[in-house]
Amino acid sequence: PGLDVVAKSKGKLYFGSATDNGELNDAPYVAILSDNKEFGQITPGNSMKWDATERSRGVFTFSGGDVIANFAAANGQLLRGHTCVWHSQLPSWLTTTKDKYAWDVVNEAFNDDGTFRTSVFYTTLGSSYIATAFHAARAADPDAKLYINDYNIDGLGAKSTAMTNLVAQLKADGVPVDGIGIQGHLIVGAVPNNLQANFEQFAALGVEIAITELDIRLTLPVTPEKLAQQQADYQKVIAACAAVPACVGVTIWDWTDKYSWIPSVFSGQGAALPWDETFVKKPAYDGIVAGF
Ligand code: XIL
Repeated sequence: PGLDVVAKSKGKLYFGSATDNGELNDAPYVAILSDNKEFGQITPGNSMKWDATERSRGVFTFSGGDVIANFAAANGQLLRGHTCVWHSQLPSWLTTTKDKYAWDVVNEAFNDDGTFRTSVFYTTLGSSYIATAFHAARAADPDAKLYINDYNIDGLGAKSTAMTNLVAQLKADGVPVDGIGIQGHLIVGAVPNNLQANFEQFAALGVEIAITELDIRLTLPVTPEKLAQQQADYQKVIAACAAVPACVGVTIWDWTDKYSWIPSVFSGQGAALPWDETFVKKPAYDGIVAGF
């Protein structure tokens, strides 16, 4: 029936995918991306990042992001804006529609040990930049769900604890944070076992949660065994979201291996998504369906 149909049938708000402008000239790709039975939500992978929207100081360009927002509106898909405040993909000078749903306001604020990451924001303002960003985002868009997003917070651990403590403090201080985004850049055979307990710990803070950038990479070459493990791993992640009512949806970080960011960043790894490079569904697809 399609992944979004399955997700909605289990009470979720959406199943979605990242995408971006460069891929929209690929007609067979667009045919699947625009199928809102598969994808009820999309996220621009790059075109709403600061280096895309203000390449020269004071000169704003929203056209790339608008293409994605318009694509979502045209296809009846929710939009997650991504991302306002992040240490990466900043412009070099710094050394909206009713259909919008959520914004990743602050991205990757923590190191893996739970200390705050050093960035131009942290170095200049201390951790107060986080509250400032959320207040500014709420003022700019009172209707959008405002998320703090990070990786390696899938299971229990130091970084998850740091996120829990931060969000508790933000809420105590009256900062408008609505959700915790769990990126979910995971490794085949190494998915944490305590996902559900971790998601419940976040939910107990009174925020919603979402899996915002899911992919599960493997060391190439692909083998049937690795694909079977990947299927089980996708099922495990989806099942954890399915089991926790506060988990509103899942976004994969693009849907086809043809446009995955993994091989360019993790040398020798890839095949992280549920459709292969030729748009054929992999066992992972069935894992997602079974997980819901
Ligand atoms: C990635 C994009 O997919 C790539 O195209 C780009 O070159 C680098 O950024 N965490 C995030 C995303 O929050 O914005 C990143 O996206 C992947 C890691």
